[in-house]
Amino acid sequence: MRYPLIIGNWKLNGSKKFIDTFIVGLCRKFHGIEGCKVVIAPPMVYLDQVKQVICNTKLLLGAQNVDINLSGAFTGEVSASMLKDIGARYIIIGHSERRSLHSEDDQVIAKKFLVLKNKDLIPVLCIGETAAEKMAGQTKTICARQIDVILKLHGAEVFQNTVIAYEPIWAIGTGCAATAEQIQTIHTFIRDHIAQKDPKVADQLIIQYGGSVTKNNAAEIFSQPDVDGVLVGSASLILDSFIDIIKLASTKKYKI
Ligand code: 13P
Repeated sequence: MRYPLIIGNWKLNGSKKFIDTFIVGLCRKFHGIEGCKVVIAPPMVYLDQVKQVICNTKLLLGAQNVDINLSGAFTGEVSASMLKDIGARYIIIGHSERRSLHSEDDQVIAKKFLVLKNKDLIPVLCIGETAAEKMAGQTKTICARQIDVILKLHGAEVFQNTVIAYEPIWAIGTGCAATAEQIQTIHTFIRDHIAQKDPKVADQLIIQYGGSVTKNNAAEIFSQPDVDGVLVGSASLILDSFIDIIKLASTKKYKI
């Protein structure tokens, strides 16, 4: 079953003090809101603190990365087993900041996808094109390539109970979100692309949009039939904005 999913990707932001005020406030304001799932993905070092604060609420824990290995001599890394152990459920992989700043390629990301699936965690696979690729009319080609590495290695069934986040790189942190029409076009393309291999899996796939989502553009984005949720960066750090986005998501209706 598809459902509206909002993930707050805190990136390299937050502190113990921030969590104490923000998460406590979020728990209070989220209480009683139904019809959507909300995930907080703080930096790794704060996972446990956030988990402690949200443990009696419906808020869920996410993480921003995972290593391809489960244990061993891999200094600085965090494994899928550890994320599971600490209670994280939705794990962001393939974010453009990791692709560009940490040289993660499609092959590495495919390994991360599988390591998460094997631990029964939910990969949130980020895909999307650069401004230059968009100008060159390559958006669909790029998105297809980023999905195909996983499709070819592991088949379409591996996308069951997973999330794809379409995050055009030109829209991230720029204040210039894609239009609702652009988003719907690419989300339809993503769903159709998977449907060519397995229509049932495609039908249930959660597809999020990310890139300059705010409380002002969220309603229009959510109104698109193939938008199941949003992956929110900076607006997820502002309590009133984030809760407004959550409220809008909770009113989303699916055609049956
Ligand atoms: P912004 O919402 O700050 O543009 O970030 C989007 C993003 O990268 C979420 O993963």
